[in-house]
Amino acid sequence: MFDVDTEINVESCACGGSMTETNRVRWVYASKDNAELAARYDEWAEDYDTDLDRDFAWSGHVLAAEVLMKYTDPDVSIIDVGCGTGLCGGELQRRGYTRIDGFDLSEGMLALASKLGVYAQLKQAVLGEPLEYDTDAYGAAIATGVFTVGHAPASGWDEVVRIIRPGGYFVLTIRPDIFESNGYLQKEQDLVNSGQCELVEASDEIKMLPKGEPEAYHQIRVYRVLK
Ligand SMILES: C[S@@+](CC[C@H](N)C(=O)[O-])C[C@H]1O[C@@H](n2cnc3c(N)ncnc32)[C@H](O)[C@@H]1O
Repeated sequence: MFDVDTEINVESCACGGSMTETNRVRWVYASKDNAELAARYDEWAEDYDTDLDRDFAWSGHVLAAEVLMKYTDPDVSIIDVGCGTGLCGGELQRRGYTRIDGFDLSEGMLALASKLGVYAQLKQAVLGEPLEYDTDAYGAAIATGVFTVGHAPASGWDEVVRIIRPGGYFVLTIRPDIFESNGYLQKEQDLVNSGQCELVEASDEIKMLPKGEPEAYHQIRVYRVLK
């Protein structure tokens, strides 16, 4: 997992204990491995949507869904990578998309997503490990808030690209401050230089958590899969 400069005592602040909601993003950032990250999301799941809206004003799922619309038709098959409780899937459904699957590390987050009636299929799966999906299975992948501090590694992009068919798109949010240091730039260069992808869009840097993390910028990057 990634280094994180946390100002909070993460040992003493399980959600529902002394943690305030405003610290929950940093609490998950500070997870030391996937087991701890999954456990923290399991614990946060019930309150996640409310906290992200009220305390953080999270907009990444909305902005990424709007960007995906520029490149795809509503009948495209989409995999929501790190779908969480389904915020992104909900935005896609509201925009007319009907063929949406999702996966996530956290069973607790998936349990919430399964109640939405948005996803045809949901699975527990881990970015950075082999994904149990067919090669070229999807016309698009979307990942919002997943490739961030203490979360999914850049190595996870290889499997996401594998399951997108040639001509399909991969839309993700990324934090510019860790884009190079956490290996995403190198991964992008590897995928582009090997002819597997081309970068078709990189947005301006945007504050996507303006209430809870006002110092953090995010960017949307869009890749077209070539292979
Ligand atoms: C900040 S939430 C974003 C959820 C959703 N995409 C959204 O926009 O609300 C990050 C999600 O990524 C998932 N996640 C983190 N690391 C992961 C990994 N290695 N593999 C799969 N999911 C992961 C977490 O379990 C969590 O549900």
